[in-house]
Amino acid sequence: MIAPLTQAVRGQPVPSIAEPVIEVIDITKRYGRNIVHQHLNLDVRRGEIVSIVGGSGSGKTTLVRQILGLEHPSSGTIKLFGENLATISPETALLMRSRSGMLFQRGALFSSLSVFDNIAQPLRELGKVPNELLRDIVMLKLEMVGLPCKHASKMPSALSGGMIKRVGIARAIALEPELLFLDEPTAGLDPQASDEFVELISALHRALGLTVVMVTHDLDTMIALSTRVAVLADRKVLVAAPVEEAAGVDHPFIREYFLGLRGRRALQALPPERRAKLPRAALAPASSELPL
Ligand SMILES: Nc1ncnc2c1ncn2[C@@H]1O[C@H](COP(=O)(O)OP(=O)(O)O)[C@@H](O)[C@H]1O
Ligand SMILES: [Mg+2]
Repeated sequence: MIAPLTQAVRGQPVPSIAEPVIEVIDITKRYGRNIVHQHLNLDVRRGEIVSIVGGSGSGKTTLVRQILGLEHPSSGTIKLFGENLATISPETALLMRSRSGMLFQRGALFSSLSVFDNIAQPLRELGKVPNELLRDIVMLKLEMVGLPCKHASKMPSALSGGMIKRVGIARAIALEPELLFLDEPTAGLDPQASDEFVELISALHRALGLTVVMVTHDLDTMIALSTRVAVLADRKVLVAAPVEEAAGVDHPFIREYFLGLRGRRALQALPPERRAKLPRAALAPASSELPL
């Protein structure tokens, strides 16, 4: 299934990369004696799609939660749209929240609410939106994520994994955010649903000029979408660069993740001019050694 949006934005240029919208400056995050982040820095500019990769428990979700203001760093500074999260007023914080959409790793939808009510929920939280308008907005968002209107009355339990993610995205973009956060968006999806998800994010990125920050384990999704990849290891961002550059950094996690069989195979999807910048170790044959 190809969403009409995907066709509409074909040929449209990708958003140009502009000023920083997220600045994470020298943060440390501790839970008791567990130091999750130490001297961690990361910038994300408007129009980028930045993937955060790292081992399980390396602090990817914790980093996103801090950027969203759901957790606070033990020290250091986080700025969103140029504003220091530690010093803004509650009103500004609320406004910032409405400029970001989030698709969480688990519990993407409220299971007791219909598709319609799930998507409508952020709009209802805002206050009085007339019913007619609410209906139009929800139906528009459904269409944007490529789901027919007839699904609006369904309960989440009646949907496939791929459809649940689409509804989660429709809800995340309900307030027309500038920034979209995705935590493991393709986990649990079959390869076809993952490919469709990649198309959807790519189309929304173009159509809405979105900035996307995505936590993912999925090499194919990461390579297909990212303008840069931020590698989390040793409690910090080791490198935040286009994947062909990040793959060349000498570090055990990077060697294992990018230069193993799966990594080398996934890197074959890069266009030739970007493949030419990969380290030699990434170009060793991969396709013949693993069953497809
Ligand atoms: N609310 C919390 N309280 C205590 N420890 C936490 C909390 N949230 C995360 N952690 C710890 O922080 C570390 C990083 O977790 P997380 O950000 O979820 O990793 P990832 O998303 O990379 O798998 C883990 O050691 C986890 O146990
Ligand atoms: Mg996580």
